Amino acid sequence: MKCVVKLIIPENIKNIKPYPPGKPLDELEREYGITNSIKLASNENPWGPSPKAVEAIGNCLSGLNRYPDGSGYYLTRAIAGKYGFEPSEIVLGNGSNEVIELLVKAFITEGDEVISSHPSFLMYQKFVQVRGGINHVIPLKDMKHDLIAILDKITDRTRLVFIDNPNNPTGNALPPKEIYEFISKVDEHVIVVLDEAYVDFMNPEFALDMFSLVRNTKARCPVVFLRTFSKAYGLSGVRAGFGLMPADIAVCLHKVRQPFNMNQLAQAGALAALEDEEYYQQTLKKTVDGLVYLQEEVNKLGCISYDTQTNFFLADVRGNSDKLYEALLHEGVIVRSMSSYGFTNFIRITVGTNEENIRFIKALGKCLKYLNYA
Ligand SMILES: Cc1ncc(COP(=O)(O)O)c(C=O)c1O
Repeated sequence: MKCVVKLIIPENIKNIKPYPPGKPLDELEREYGITNSIKLASNENPWGPSPKAVEAIGNCLSGLNRYPDGSGYYLTRAIAGKYGFEPSEIVLGNGSNEVIELLVKAFITEGDEVISSHPSFLMYQKFVQVRGGINHVIPLKDMKHDLIAILDKITDRTRLVFIDNPNNPTGNALPPKEIYEFISKVDEHVIVVLDEAYVDFMNPEFALDMFSLVRNTKARCPVVFLRTFSKAYGLSGVRAGFGLMPADIAVCLHKVRQPFNMNQLAQAGALAALEDEEYYQQTLKKTVDGLVYLQEEVNKLGCISYDTQTNFFLADVRGNSDKLYEALLHEGVIVRSMSSYGFTNFIRITVGTNEENIRFIKALGKCLKYLNYA
C-alpha cells in the first residue's frame, strides 16, 4: 500500500538494494505447485543442529517471559575458554551479521571509507551505506581477494577492511602467509576484519594464529575475527554469531549494541552446540563426503566444479546460470545463480544430505540436457 505522507528518504538509504535471500522452500512450493522441494542455496547445515542444542533451546521455552542475559555470561565464557581468549575480547551478535553491523556503527561516520571485495558477503557494503560511509569495492583477482589492490586503496579515511576468508561465493581461502604479509603492511588506523563464517570447514593448513593477531603481539593494525553458529553448528534460525577482537574494540561495540542483542534461545542453543564436539565433527565429516560426491558427479555431467574450503562450491555450468536456476526450480531444487555476482555461467551449490545431493544431481542432469549445456 502506498504511504500517504510525503517521506523524506535520505539518498544513502534510497540507494540500498535489499539483500537477496535464498528463495524459501514454502515460497517455491506455492509458486510452482510442487512439494518435497530441496534447498541447497544458503550454505546451511542440512542435518540440523545438535540434538543437545535442540534440547537446551526447549528447556528455555518456559522462561521466555524474562529478558535474556544481556552479557551472554555463559556463552561468552565458553567461547573464551575454547579459543583461549578473555571474555572482554568477545562480542556476541544476533548472527555474525550483527557484529559486522556493530563494527560499522561504532567506527564509521559520514565520509569514512571501508574496503571490501566483490563478490563477497553483500552485507558489509549495505551497513556502510546506512552510515553514509564510502565503500571501495575491489574486484576479486583470479577469484581471490586482491590484497595488493586493497592495500593500494587504503587512505587516511579508511577505517575498516572486510575480508571473508574463506570467501563467499568462491569458497577459496587465502594462504596464511599472504594474510600475515598483508596485515603487516596495513596502516595502524585501519581495522582488518577477517570474516571466518566458514572456517569450520576449512583445511587446517589455512588456519590463522588468531591469538597473535587479536592480541597484536607484533604491534600492527588491529584485527577482528568473526565467527558464526549458522553454518557448521546448524543454528541459522536462532541467529548466533560472535567476534573475537582487541578488548578496546569490544568496549566500543558494547556501547552501540542493544542491551539484549542475543536472545535467550540463541545463547542456550549456541552454548550446547559448542559443547557437542562429537556432533560437530560428524557434521564436518558428512560435509566433506557430500562435497566429494557432488563435485565428482557435477564434473561427470560436463560442468566444472571449483575447489572449496567451505560447505558450498561453485560450478561452471557452461551455459546461462539464470536459465539453469529456473529449470532446477521446476524440479523442486533451489541453488544460487551467480549471475548477479558477475559469474553468468556459475551456480553455487550447498552440500545437502545424501538424499538431497542425489536428487540434485538427477535434476541437474535432466536440466543440463534440456537446456543443451555442457
Ligand atoms: C561470509 C559470510 N559472513 C557472514 C555471514 C552471516 O552469517 P550469520 O549472520 O548467519 O552469522 C554469512 C552468511 O551467509 C556469510 O556468508
